[in-house]
Amino acid sequence: MSSARVEKLLQSMTPAEKIGQLIQYFYFRLPERGDPSMVPPGQVEAVEAALAAGRAGSLLFVTDPATSNRLQRQAIAGNRHGIPVLFGFDVIHGLRTIFPVPIALAASWNPELIEQSQAVAAREARAVGIHWAFAPMLDIARDPRWGRIIEGAGEDPYLGSVVAAAQVRGFQGPHLGADEHIIAGPKHFAGYGAALGGRDYDEVDLSDQELWNTYLPPFKAAIDAGAGNVMSAYMDLNGVPATGNRWLLNDILREALGFEGFVVSDANSARDLAAHHYAADLTDAGARALNAGLDLEMAILDPAFEHLDEALENGQVDIERIDTSVRRLLSAKEALGLLDDPFVDEQAAQTVLNDPAHRETARKAAEESAVLLRNENDLLPLTGIGSVAVLGQMANSKRDTLGPWIFDYDLEETVTVLEGIRAHAAGLETPVEVTYAPGVPSPVRLFPSMFDMWGDGSKTDENFDSEAELSRAVEIATAADVAVVVVGERQDMIGETASRSTLDLPGEQLALLQAVVATGTPTVVVLMSGRPLDLRWAEANTPAILQVWYPGTRGGEAVANLLFGQAVPGGKLPFTWLRHVGQVPMHYAHTRSHDPSKQDRRYWDEESTPLYPFGFGLSYAKFAYSNLAVSSSSTPVDGVVTVSVDVTNTSGRDGNEVAQLYLHQRYGTASRPVRLLKGFRRLHLRAGQTERVEFAVTAEERRYWSAATRDWVLDATSFDVWVGGSSTADLHTEFTVTD
Ligand code: NOJ
Repeated sequence: MSSARVEKLLQSMTPAEKIGQLIQYFYFRLPERGDPSMVPPGQVEAVEAALAAGRAGSLLFVTDPATSNRLQRQAIAGNRHGIPVLFGFDVIHGLRTIFPVPIALAASWNPELIEQSQAVAAREARAVGIHWAFAPMLDIARDPRWGRIIEGAGEDPYLGSVVAAAQVRGFQGPHLGADEHIIAGPKHFAGYGAALGGRDYDEVDLSDQELWNTYLPPFKAAIDAGAGNVMSAYMDLNGVPATGNRWLLNDILREALGFEGFVVSDANSARDLAAHHYAADLTDAGARALNAGLDLEMAILDPAFEHLDEALENGQVDIERIDTSVRRLLSAKEALGLLDDPFVDEQAAQTVLNDPAHRETARKAAEESAVLLRNENDLLPLTGIGSVAVLGQMANSKRDTLGPWIFDYDLEETVTVLEGIRAHAAGLETPVEVTYAPGVPSPVRLFPSMFDMWGDGSKTDENFDSEAELSRAVEIATAADVAVVVVGERQDMIGETASRSTLDLPGEQLALLQAVVATGTPTVVVLMSGRPLDLRWAEANTPAILQVWYPGTRGGEAVANLLFGQAVPGGKLPFTWLRHVGQVPMHYAHTRSHDPSKQDRRYWDEESTPLYPFGFGLSYAKFAYSNLAVSSSSTPVDGVVTVSVDVTNTSGRDGNEVAQLYLHQRYGTASRPVRLLKGFRRLHLRAGQTERVEFAVTAEERRYWSAATRDWVLDATSFDVWVGGSSTADLHTEFTVTD
């Protein structure tokens, strides 16, 4: 339903004016460090000409308030109705204040914190004139070779759904158009995470049961939370490109999931229907994308929707279909208040961008998202030491501290792990001496990243003296009480077009770690990555491993707080951490098979178990679960069972834990996964404290899409229930469901 104002506007528009509203252009503004030769020549001029001619309804990549106001004036002057443009942008994990990457936020298992983080991102974005984020990315990722695993919430549909809804609430606030908020744009619809071989953009084949039970639930959650936009994906889904896939964009998105907002293409993905050899030419591409359900085309140059006039003339599309899309776009502009006031206050924007409260939220998010993977003999937190040697290039790289998918960051105020440790150590009652050496040269990609045009690629340092540097690293490690080795993937080794064929620590980082451990100095591994890496050697040979992801603007401070015990880890893995790339794909929610007793011996040359299971993560405190109970041992199919459990902090220090509930259906119309996450609660428990936690298991948690009946079912059956601190929880109970 659209407003009278929108309907009136629509009635007064010519077909050409309407089509103009359905085109979104990149407006490239590269910072000083960028490479202008990478911008297609004449692109900026062509976009401004389109604005002046009323042939653009939206722009992306404008993040400067003065430029936003200037372009907005051009847009308004460029069409008879004074309709402003909608500015979209990749606000993935912050704008000026950079938060931990999305997979890290998911690892906090803290929906309130995730909501707050994206609310800060929205506030900064709105202040500079951005109306809409191309986020959250909701693609379930079960193949860590795929670089974009970092942008999502990992492998699990339940966690993914909770995180999705929290992000939508954070971006949009209480309602679409709320002050200081922006439109959320869940992406990429749908199935993108299952790219063949983990190779970005490659085809995806998914059965209906995988789509309904695993890949679509986060989108459903985002839509139920009111998301105003959805972005279509690039790849073929079951043989049809997602952006031209009517079944996907209409039957599923609109009819089954009830989405009422507007659908944008991914960059060039409508015009690329021709490149795909799916559409005959650009006119056909535009017509097929529109008819499939696309509303707005995102393009760098030469959009397929520029050819919609022709498609209209020759009957490939009709004006009612165009009207439907224009109505959706105008309604979004109206909801955001742009039809009344599309300009931003350039002065006020600076105050918002510099709000210290934003940086504090980012620090807290970095602390809550870290996952402690190993801590033998409580090496962490570090106490009573006189010196610490910090090793590794990534310890001292501001850009790597921030991670991928950022553009308007402020390097000056970014705190690296080394800087964080130095500042922390200097402030201790008995100051700790800090030394540093990079140890080994920076690893670099075989092929450049698409983001190199922003001047962000890691480079080979020709002057790096490998032999001397490694000796220096060994020397300072030998002299120190503790060594902290920071290793991982440089920020350009993860994200879009950053898939890998192995999961090894890139370059010579393992050699650095081995040399440091060989000194005999107790060694902590601080890992910066957005996917599981092969940590078998580190797990077997180092006492402590802390996964800090790419922790953001205040990341170094957060890591220092964690290492020295000012903050306590409590994050949990949002994916299965496998041992070796050969185990891909591996996720905890597999089905049982006819031979479950040999589940751990599926390979003869490696364990079939992960290195760390889904949901795993330690704290400095220890926890025990007891008194697991169900409110009733039997319930009707539509009934609710309440599961309750005592969680006790059995240690002498305060700590954080995430209590997790897993269900398994024993029999029914289909065989169901061995376990499925169906509830969780992040807890802060003081030393010795016990909290009773309750989970409601409703029919919704038991419902699934069955390939046998080709529909949603609720079986009368028995359920196993486990509650604990990871997907290997062993405290068990059960209940039955009756017809
Ligand atoms: C391509 C990516 O797939 C998408 O996630 C992003 O939002 C657009 N480019 C715009 O940058």
